[in-house]
Amino acid sequence: MGISRDAAKNRRYWDERADDYQAEHGEFLHGAPMAWGTFRIPEEEVGALGEVRGKGVLELGCGAAQWSIALARAGARPVGLDNSRRQLAHARRGMRRAGVEFPLVHAAAERVPLPDRSFDAILSDHGAMSFVDPERSVPECARLLRPGGILAFCMSTPFRDACWSERSERVVRTLQAPYFEVGRWEGEGHVEFQLAYGAWIRLFRRHGLGVEDLVELRPPEGARTTYTDYAPLSWARRWPAEHVWVVRRESAER
Ligand SMILES: C[S@@+](CC[C@H](N)C(=O)[O-])C[C@H]1O[C@@H](n2cnc3c(N)ncnc32)[C@H](O)[C@@H]1O
Repeated sequence: MGISRDAAKNRRYWDERADDYQAEHGEFLHGAPMAWGTFRIPEEEVGALGEVRGKGVLELGCGAAQWSIALARAGARPVGLDNSRRQLAHARRGMRRAGVEFPLVHAAAERVPLPDRSFDAILSDHGAMSFVDPERSVPECARLLRPGGILAFCMSTPFRDACWSERSERVVRTLQAPYFEVGRWEGEGHVEFQLAYGAWIRLFRRHGLGVEDLVELRPPEGARTTYTDYAPLSWARRWPAEHVWVVRRESAER
């Protein structure tokens, strides 16, 4: 099965970047695995997934699967999916170290090779939901979720994206990019996506997903991160740099 040009580009990028990414962030993520975003806000506080024990959970863009390993330890039945073979090699190493076993799938989230209604929950933490055209990822998640299932994903906010200065390659305190033109963003070697708030909500609704929450992550004073070039703590304490969308698959047939 062929993959899209964007997925092929992102695959090359992440296969090349995986070792450096895990050297820089891997241990930090293993230290706070069931937590969201670059400052690792605990799921206990965010409450996006609810009780996971016994639930089938798909992690889209799992990287080294720090989340899925922690979910397996908490009694869930995770499946980790990633477009990068190299990232999955790191996931396998982490699973061995943790003594847990669950399926890993090497595929692009644009077209997941798994049956309809396979999962109670889908999560992505700066994973595939940030790198796949939402017009493709959102219907795919709706297809994979059981009725009543939850999709929870953390990504950059349009605030942060609009304050990203291309010139100085950092987040600044003034608007840089037009909000109404968010969408596809092609950087050096990879492609990312964003939508305006209303466009996300309309897209969810078109695919039978109702918004339950939008949790804007505010790191506590003194919070630490290894993602130092993402958004400085002083910025992220004043404006939301990352948020978690929580949407639920409607129960009724549409
Ligand atoms: C920023 S990393 C985050 C990984 C992990 N969630 C973490 O917090 O470390 C993004 C991940 O998304 C994966 N990814 C990118 N495009 C993808 C796609 N089309 N399908 C599935 N995974 C994808 C990359 O291979 C990479 O592992």
